[in-house]
Amino acid sequence: MAAVNLTLQQRPAADPSVDHEIQAIVAGASASETCNTDLAAGPWDFDIRPGYGPGASMGDVIPTGAPRQGELPAAYREASDEELEGRIQAAKRTLGDRVVILGHFYQREEVVTHADYVGDSFQLANAALEHPDAEAIVFCGVHFMAETADLLSRPEQAVILPNLAAGCSMADMADIDQVEECWEQLAEVYGDMDTPDAEGKLPVIPVTYMNSSAAIKGFVGRHGGIVCTSSNARTVLEWAFERGRRVLFFPDQHLGRNTAKAMGVPLDEMPMWNPHRPFGGSDEATLTRARVILWHGFCSVHRRFSVDQITQARAEHPGVRVIVHPECPMPVVDAADESGSTDYIRKAIEAADEPTTFAIGTEINLVQRLAAQHPQHTIFCLDPVVCPCSTMYRIHPGYLAWVLEGLVEGRVHNRITVPQDVADPARVALERMLAAKPPAGRLEQPAGTTS
Ligand code: 13P
Ligand code: SF4
Repeated sequence: MAAVNLTLQQRPAADPSVDHEIQAIVAGASASETCNTDLAAGPWDFDIRPGYGPGASMGDVIPTGAPRQGELPAAYREASDEELEGRIQAAKRTLGDRVVILGHFYQREEVVTHADYVGDSFQLANAALEHPDAEAIVFCGVHFMAETADLLSRPEQAVILPNLAAGCSMADMADIDQVEECWEQLAEVYGDMDTPDAEGKLPVIPVTYMNSSAAIKGFVGRHGGIVCTSSNARTVLEWAFERGRRVLFFPDQHLGRNTAKAMGVPLDEMPMWNPHRPFGGSDEATLTRARVILWHGFCSVHRRFSVDQITQARAEHPGVRVIVHPECPMPVVDAADESGSTDYIRKAIEAADEPTTFAIGTEINLVQRLAAQHPQHTIFCLDPVVCPCSTMYRIHPGYLAWVLEGLVEGRVHNRITVPQDVADPARVALERMLAAKPPAGRLEQPAGTTS
């Protein structure tokens, strides 16, 4: 963790724009620190280099097969912020109901301002489902979200990802070939993976986090498995344990561990599967007693949060309420007051009647927006370094203007289409998730809630 040069309360809250803050840091007008000054440039400048570019996922390895964005025309690269804003508004007016723009909570403010719907990945998938009449769905989020929207929308509708380089480094940590290979190796331990035992249970139920490729969702659908999000992970794990002896959970080890631990699964029954090691780095005895096999994936944004930051927040703000996303490592979730999905965090802040100090462990764009929307509260990001999710940050207004003006001219740029043979089983896995409900009387609980 980089040295902290600010106390936590120094984060400015009135301006929700992370981009403005990064520009101010680079210009020397802000005392804050950013994890990489290249963030002040347009994505087209750093997309020519290999890797994910500046931001929280810069240390991750981009798969060679990941989509690459072609060059954005100069008219968009060179346009001022004001010009892009005007062009986006004009294109939206011309297109009217023909287009719906979806924006994830982690998108930069300059993009979110144009979205018809802002939400988490699950809510935005539903928003796609609820707009069967729009010709185009412009998804301001990351690749797996656009794929999910394509799975749930009508075949005639075009789902558009404004910048193809907007992947998710965590989703890319589980590649379909690695997962197929893992499955074959697990079959060496557990025998026939598709035949239930005398009690009707399969040896392993695969569970994938929404943050995974359509190919992985298809794999899960073909093998009796299911998709989960950070808001329904416990219900989904319960669904899986009703049908199987154990769970293979991917790609996020932290969401899997935090959720299973909150359900009472002992840590020594949750071995890790590292696809870069022979036999996942595990052994037969460990796998035989495993209840949850955790894939070695993680989110580089949420991995930046630490117990030290929570300790500092508590020292500087007695009575602070610490809420973190369950993609954070287990010690951070354990040290927080609560953990929950992006929408859980938003609702928890909205539900607070009294002025409250919140320290939040999730992506900075959402935290700064919440701080600006709720001036009665003190809301700050646990990480004092301004370090957005670099893949989410790939959706710059220049790309949004380009795809919208393309639609005005009758051109569809960057359409995301999931092939039929993958889409059918992937939809099965998604539909299982949509049908899974918590037991009567229990509202859906976020993973690892501690208060
Ligand atoms: P949500 O499912 O809450 O939208 O989160 C997606 C994500 O990428 C979190 O890092
Ligand atoms: Fe992926 Fe993490 Fe970015 Fe979410 S915050 S899109 S999990 S890299």
